[in-house]
Amino acid sequence: MNDPRHRPRLVIVGSVNMDLVLRVPHQPKPGQTIRASDFAELPGGKGANQAVAAARLGAESIMIGRVGDDAFGGTLRSQLAGAGVQIDALQTTPGPSGVALISVDDDGQNAISIVAGANGRVSLDDVRAAESIIASADALLVQFELPIEVVAEAVTIAGRHEVMTIVDPAPAPPRGVALPEALYHVDVLSPNQTEAADLAGIEVDDLAGAERAARLLLQRGARCIVVKLGPDGALIVASEAPARHVPSITVEPIDTTAAGDAFTAAMAVALAEGEAIDSAVRFGCIAGALATTTLGAQPAMPMRQRVQSAMQQKTP
Ligand code: RIB
Repeated sequence: MNDPRHRPRLVIVGSVNMDLVLRVPHQPKPGQTIRASDFAELPGGKGANQAVAAARLGAESIMIGRVGDDAFGGTLRSQLAGAGVQIDALQTTPGPSGVALISVDDDGQNAISIVAGANGRVSLDDVRAAESIIASADALLVQFELPIEVVAEAVTIAGRHEVMTIVDPAPAPPRGVALPEALYHVDVLSPNQTEAADLAGIEVDDLAGAERAARLLLQRGARCIVVKLGPDGALIVASEAPARHVPSITVEPIDTTAAGDAFTAAMAVALAEGEAIDSAVRFGCIAGALATTTLGAQPAMPMRQRVQSAMQQKTP
């Protein structure tokens, strides 16, 4: 991908968390206590991770959400600003910030528990007050760590202003729980394999299953489904063309946390720059792969130059 003709503006309505990260040899079993080798307090939250990724990839990145008035809140604000994210619309609310407890094992796999904190206080009024900011964007990016009706309202506002809508449905609601209608009528819905299965209500074990789930979701109203497949790349499914599998690159993963966030943000940046979906997804796959080579969420979001040089690598 070449340098963009214009710098796109991305608005991210989403969560901001402090990630409390433990390095463990393996994930503990229920009732088991294990020793961790390391602990780190690192900035995260799906929304904030995507905002940082978008800024590092060259976009103007505007964060809408809330942090608490605790010590984490101030740190999270300054880390976002330091990464080049615009935080004028990021409010501070009384009470604790969002927190994620993450254990990363020797294979780089993670287990995450989140508590919403201030993310749960983002309201319909907050997004309605940000209508002009959303309207000024080339693309709106949302995830599911805020109250779902707030996420749906952000997408509705974007749709009213013909702003491209990109939805990362993570964490997905339990199987059988439908989303607000607005969240199906989006430009790109980008679940991972598990989220695709939960949203479509079917098992997804392979590419054929991912395509079946995607086609069910297309019928609900999305223009395009991009199923994230981790090290196996991604699958693009749209009604007007056959499904396309986009491979990724091979890396040695250290921590897979936020790889999906890097993917979604990179894909969004490329789409907002006017790239076609296939090359935007390839850009996303590479950003996602690179994000697994560094510990932590926001610290792992790659710079544009790194993604561009990795794009020259041959696919497996
Ligand atoms: O996607 C990774 C993120 O999920 C972490 O940063 C954590 O905060 C949770 O939101």
